[in-house]
Amino acid sequence: MSKIYDAVYQQSLDDPDGFWREAARGISWSKTPSTVLDESNAPVYRWFSDGELNTCFNALDRHVRAGRGELTALIYDSAMTGEQRRYSYAELTELTARCAGAIRDLGVRKGDRVLIYMPMIAEAVVAMLACARIGAVHSVVFGGFAANELAKRIDDATPRLVIAASCGIEPSRVVQYQPLLEEALAISTHEVSKVLMVQRDAWPAPMREGRDHDWASLVPSAPMADCVSVAATDPLYILYTSGTTGQPKGVVRDNGGHAVALHWSMKHIYDVGEGEVFWAASDVGWVVGHSYIVYAPLFAGATTLMYEGKPVGTPDAGAFWRIIEQYNVKVLFTAPTAFRAIKKEDPKGDLLLKYATDSLSALFLAGERTDPDTLHWAQQKLGVPVVDHWWQTETGWAICANCLGVEELPVKDGSPTKPTPGWNLCVLDDEGNSLPAGQLGSLAVKLPLPPGAFPTLWNAPDRFIESYLSAFPGYYNTGDAGIIDEEGYAFVLSRTDDIINVAGHRLSTGGMEEVLADHPDVAECAVLGIADAMKGEVPLGLVVLSSGVTRDHAEIVKELVQSVRDRIGPVAAFKLAAVVERLPKTRSGKILRATIRKLANGEPVAVPATIDDPAILSEIQQVLDTVLGRS
Ligand code: COA
Ligand code: AMP
Repeated sequence: MSKIYDAVYQQSLDDPDGFWREAARGISWSKTPSTVLDESNAPVYRWFSDGELNTCFNALDRHVRAGRGELTALIYDSAMTGEQRRYSYAELTELTARCAGAIRDLGVRKGDRVLIYMPMIAEAVVAMLACARIGAVHSVVFGGFAANELAKRIDDATPRLVIAASCGIEPSRVVQYQPLLEEALAISTHEVSKVLMVQRDAWPAPMREGRDHDWASLVPSAPMADCVSVAATDPLYILYTSGTTGQPKGVVRDNGGHAVALHWSMKHIYDVGEGEVFWAASDVGWVVGHSYIVYAPLFAGATTLMYEGKPVGTPDAGAFWRIIEQYNVKVLFTAPTAFRAIKKEDPKGDLLLKYATDSLSALFLAGERTDPDTLHWAQQKLGVPVVDHWWQTETGWAICANCLGVEELPVKDGSPTKPTPGWNLCVLDDEGNSLPAGQLGSLAVKLPLPPGAFPTLWNAPDRFIESYLSAFPGYYNTGDAGIIDEEGYAFVLSRTDDIINVAGHRLSTGGMEEVLADHPDVAECAVLGIADAMKGEVPLGLVVLSSGVTRDHAEIVKELVQSVRDRIGPVAAFKLAAVVERLPKTRSGKILRATIRKLANGEPVAVPATIDDPAILSEIQQVLDTVLGRS
């Protein structure tokens, strides 16, 4: 039944060298690599270590040189401002070369870091590609993060330049980015001497003389910079993601493996090629945005679509269908939460009937497990394959997917199908033994990881080994738990750490606990993710107050909510918190977060054998019922 997939998958594991050498032919190299897999520093593996290339050349210039300059590279559609624009490959190449010239003139050199703090505007794509063009390393920070989070990233990446926009536009408000940047620069210890600012009409920002430069006056007239050849193993970007503490992890992506893997994925996973329209409805601040708004579709010579807006409310739940019709979208990639939002507003799919969406051949979902209800609704309403695929910031592309360009496999509810070629996925017990089919354990990938996966963490090679490679020597620990069934289908069931997924956004409850613990009235706290019909999960905080605190609890809760918003950002969606007398703990003092989560979700709770005092569970249940509006 899955003969073609089986053969391709097996070949990728039996002969990774041959498999990826063949895939590397899809990329234009300035120096063709003779080595494919470099095992000399195992367990840290590198791909194409003696190859050289330029990522921007592969995304843009080579298509122009091949006579495809008139094809559309990028479509920009903002439901927030009404702007709609197409950029051909030739136009995008020129604009990027000028931006690269401008940032080079501002002092950026190969290997320098450039921090990009921008909303969903075309200039963000140009800025990323311009960095790649001159061998600079970009680090994009999502706009929904607070100044404090931005400052952490500035201090870790130590950028020579920040490229920002004056503001982002959310349905409810204009988010002024520049003051957040200003605050972050004031908090951070690293000095940034140059800022390149895109001024948006919705809120033009004040500029600081000498430091700030206006994109519109600098970029269009800047000299064009050529592509600089870099080593395949040189970093292309750093993307920070949540770890188990408040200190984010700087996931590093290299140039060579990334280009090879993403180019391969466009044809074999998504079945999209030259001239076809691919739309990842995500944000450039997330890995999905990096891989599938910016790089992969352009490597493939396809048309990528960048949408500033929401699935609902901009103006209605027909927004996605409007875009599919207007631009002949072949493949849409988004998070299940977006479909849950659409389904909630338009359960019967009436708005879908207003648009011709027959260009669509598949819907891909990721960011969280696709629940069967959402899967069935999307399958039924769209009448195309709906592919749940599983991946992480660290992996850069899908670990498991239904590879439509290899062979479409039957779908199983709740499963992202089977491991993607290159990913030797296993289920391990706590001692690292392989578990038989159907048994729950840690999902781990036998090393080496395929090209495109992260080779290290920025400034933290030891943390890389410790966080990912040490639990199960010889394997990458994904941090997800699940099973693989008798037919080889994977099921990703939960995280094994304290990371939660809020509307497809990855957040650390540990990071939120650090914020709550800093409140002067809080003695101890626990934050956990509880089920939410729309966002999948939302955080809930329980705090115990220091003795002697007599202030109004509602006031304290309000301050806690505000401080998570101020210090982590609105994207954390931290709105639920309550004061409790004490927290349930084991006799050794460990907070029983999983038990609290079950109580909050209304799941059956077996009283843990190690619990300090079982009577506490009914106290906690009462508080949860109140805060969740159940009493
Ligand atoms: N800049 C500033 N603020 C931002 C932001 C940005 N780029 N993106 C989101 N925010 C803010 C929102 O305004 C909101 O603030 P609020 O609390 O004042 O309302 C908060 O962060 C949470 O935003 P969001 O997660 O978008 O929730 P929402 O309730 O506004 O919308 C959905 C819900 C389901 C419509 C929305 O989450 C969505 O479209 N999700 C798709 C997920 C996605 O693309 N995931 C990427 C992985 S594929
Ligand atoms: P991020 O690094 O933000 O992409 O988040 C990665 C995490 O999101 C994974 O480790 C999973 O916990 C979760 N995730 C992403 N895609 C899926 C999926 N298709 N099914 C289940 N979980 C997913």
